[in-house]
Amino acid sequence: MNILQEWSEPITRVQSLSDSGSPAIPDRYVKPLSERPSLSSGANPTNIPVIDLGGLVGHEAKLRALTLKNISLACREWGFFQVINHGVSLDLIHQAREVWRQFFHLPIDKKQVYANSPRTYEGKVIEEYSFELTELSRSLMNILSVNLGLGEGYLQNAFGGDDIGACLRATFYPKCPQPDLTLGLSSHSDPGGMTLLLPDDQVSGLQVRKGDSWITVKPAPNAFIVNIGDQIEVLSNAIFKSVEHRVIVNSTKERVSLAFFYNPKSNLLIQPAKELVTPYRPALYQPMTFDEYRLYIRSRGPRGKSQVESLKCSR
Ligand code: OGA
Ligand code: NI
Repeated sequence: MNILQEWSEPITRVQSLSDSGSPAIPDRYVKPLSERPSLSSGANPTNIPVIDLGGLVGHEAKLRALTLKNISLACREWGFFQVINHGVSLDLIHQAREVWRQFFHLPIDKKQVYANSPRTYEGKVIEEYSFELTELSRSLMNILSVNLGLGEGYLQNAFGGDDIGACLRATFYPKCPQPDLTLGLSSHSDPGGMTLLLPDDQVSGLQVRKGDSWITVKPAPNAFIVNIGDQIEVLSNAIFKSVEHRVIVNSTKERVSLAFFYNPKSNLLIQPAKELVTPYRPALYQPMTFDEYRLYIRSRGPRGKSQVESLKCSR
């Protein structure tokens, strides 16, 4: 498999640009002033909520209720939270990180011919990791359903039952000589259902929008960062928020992240749950399949949160 041939546009390899040691980034990466990060505000003490999923497995009803409530609040107010005690083995997390770190350090010609055969050690790790994250996503989807007052399997069914779409994306952010002028990933909301991000354990970079400011996420050790995507915002009739986020880079450390996207089956109509539509809160979105939605987004390019917003019915 030649990974570069899968793209129709020409690919610029930011990694080789970084390796070249040039002190300035090419003009095309320089963001307009309004989009540049302010890297000096490092002392911001705020963080996204951290949820201990251990609170759901114990027998204490009070703790269980409190954990559910905190998840609900996080989905309403932040669209983001971190989970600890999530049940995914730490060994597997370390292995998955290592597999990708090593991959990104291969010479480019090796990367181009790299194939993830499940028979290799790497293939096995990635397969197992995806399996575990699918399980964790299902549990979280059940929790979200309950928090919306829908039956436990509601969201999972709306996504297509067992027949969902999922995909794992590993991203390498090389060092950048002018991190104040650019971004590793422009502001966007995730188009799919729910994202489970394993951030770099050494280097922070993810920023989440909160009102008019950007909060730099401080990852808890071995936590997953969970965020609501546009499809769950639609199904919840905007009770849960799909929130804008972006990635900043830095001049001294590279960063690797693994994003697991849990998406609906692509040809199912996604629309606000009937139970959440009332005369006082009419349906805020029109039905659309995830296929149609992705096509729509691709034709417009990354634009913060304007995608799902622009689909809102005008009333
Ligand atoms: C994404 C994303 C964040 C990161 O891939 O959609 O937001 O830290 N990634 O890589
Ligand atoms: Ni994202």
